[in-house]
Amino acid sequence: MATQIAATDEVLAYVEDISPPEDPVLAELRTLTAELPGGSAMQVPPSEGRLLSLLVALTGAATVLEIGTYTGYSTLCMARALPPGGRVITCDINKKMTAIAQSFWDRAGVADRIDLRLGDAQETMAGLSAGTVDLVFIDADKQSYPAYYTRSVELVRPGGLIVIDNTLFFGRVLDPAADDPGTAGIRTVNELVQSDTRVETCVLPFADGLTLARKKPA
Ligand SMILES: C[S@@+](CC[C@H](N)C(=O)[O-])C[C@H]1O[C@@H](n2cnc3c(N)ncnc32)[C@H](O)[C@@H]1O
Repeated sequence: MATQIAATDEVLAYVEDISPPEDPVLAELRTLTAELPGGSAMQVPPSEGRLLSLLVALTGAATVLEIGTYTGYSTLCMARALPPGGRVITCDINKKMTAIAQSFWDRAGVADRIDLRLGDAQETMAGLSAGTVDLVFIDADKQSYPAYYTRSVELVRPGGLIVIDNTLFFGRVLDPAADDPGTAGIRTVNELVQSDTRVETCVLPFADGLTLARKKPA
């Protein structure tokens, strides 16, 4: 499309060249994560980490809920942007990866702003009260995205923001042969968001696709 630049490797490298460098803690976390069995493909890229920080700062979010911690990169980006007294509640089922996350949050001096809940995200979400969250970032198992989105709309306050990662799912959403549960989950959540009159939305063709859904003020 003429109005959309193709995100080639060269363009993405240029974007990093003209952006502030990762600080040493984030850079070390990225390097360490790349050497793990899951690698850094599951981690948000630096540009998305910067956007998440900005979104938290721009919205003034004091209570952030993250679905999918992994080694804690996106958590750290959002925690740093919180106002005084703010917190990120982040959930994951992986004890080993979140232990790495915790060691980096300690080093970055933000551990006291992060509330890690180990266990299934849907159970964690069920235990939170409706309307108490300012911003949700969804970045876990794709087949559960419809359930995560549905509960997020209840949890977020009017005017709050839901940020959904991987909504283009490496182009698999467009591939008729892709019928795995993850791709099906992404297609379903995209339809849910599009038809949901409670939210104002924008799909950013950025990173792996990032959808912003703002719950309309009451
Ligand atoms: C894409 S990674 C998260 C990446 C992280 N946001 C970052 O940028 O570094 C997805 C995470 O979701 C977690 N996950 C998968 N199924 C889950 C579930 N049912 N409940 C909670 N977390 C889950 C995985 O263990 C994995 O660490």
